[in-house]
Amino acid sequence: MFLLRSAQRFQIRRQYSSKMRLKSKSNELSSMDIRNIFLDYFTQEHNHKFIRSSPVVPFCDPTVPFVNAGMNQFKNIFLGNAAPPCGSAVNSQKCIRVGGKHNDLNVIGTDGYHHTFFEMLGNWSFGDYFKEKACVTAWDLLTNFYQINPNRLYVTYFGGDTKLGLPPDLECKEIWRSIGVPLDRILPFGANENFWEMGASGPCGTCTEIHYDHLPNIEPNQRARFVNGGLPDLTELWNIVFIEYNRTSDGTIETLKDKFIDTGMGFERLVAVLQGKSSNYDSDLFLPIFDAISKESGKAPYSGTFDVNDSNYQLDYTYRLVADHVRMSSVCIADGIYPQLKYQL
Ligand code: SER
Repeated sequence: MFLLRSAQRFQIRRQYSSKMRLKSKSNELSSMDIRNIFLDYFTQEHNHKFIRSSPVVPFCDPTVPFVNAGMNQFKNIFLGNAAPPCGSAVNSQKCIRVGGKHNDLNVIGTDGYHHTFFEMLGNWSFGDYFKEKACVTAWDLLTNFYQINPNRLYVTYFGGDTKLGLPPDLECKEIWRSIGVPLDRILPFGANENFWEMGASGPCGTCTEIHYDHLPNIEPNQRARFVNGGLPDLTELWNIVFIEYNRTSDGTIETLKDKFIDTGMGFERLVAVLQGKSSNYDSDLFLPIFDAISKESGKAPYSGTFDVNDSNYQLDYTYRLVADHVRMSSVCIADGIYPQLKYQL
């Protein structure tokens, strides 16, 4: 069993708790603090190597239109075609989900938690550890370091799939139970939700997800059935994938030589949670962009409505759409992807 020694846990928790308290006296944690705490946790407390985000251009990988997950740059390691740079790594990967298997373009602006461009906070094991340490560290970071109330969290695990020929991941369920998550917060789901694949082919595996409930004080028996139900106030926060398989181009699943951990936490979602916002657009990642749009356009300020019947909806929706696309286009241009003009203007 992987367990942090209790003295070590206490010391780390105290160090981060005082950091969190100091920040909250003056104001909330900034998005930069939040990213740094994630990277520090894995580099300093768990000896992971920091690896920079790759550009969003999928060099040498025709299977995806853009880099759409943290694992893209590690694909060849998982497939056994490249040697891992270390036993475990951590990063914040720039991702774009437009086109291909993971395409969120059509919902942008209509909800507060999907984006064409987002950052994915990830920790990686290239042989150092597998399911248990991945779950223990994720829970420890969220509940002890970021101090998220565990009563706001649900976890899911792979419930089995006959087509894939895979049984339920009861080992994963047992890990969550041994960490102390109550059974009514540990929920099984099928392949749609808990078998992760980057594209039509490539490395893949069963996964376990941590979901956050933005509504406080609600009993699990009232809310558990809404997990993965598309509610804007009960959303996935962190996906932990147990990479063990490869989907070949003819659709078959083959077992990889080694096992890996690939985790991805939605940075914008985490920032919203820790800044006490129910929408990512109300966090410090978007508000300065809205201010700039309002100043330049002379339009009324962003008012944060998602109610289509509200008279502010159309303007707020447009704010979200423009801010989302400005972030995405800026990152693309910085990484060398330019808009293609059909006609020279
Ligand atoms: N690859 C998984 C995802 O993108 C976890 O990082 O959700």
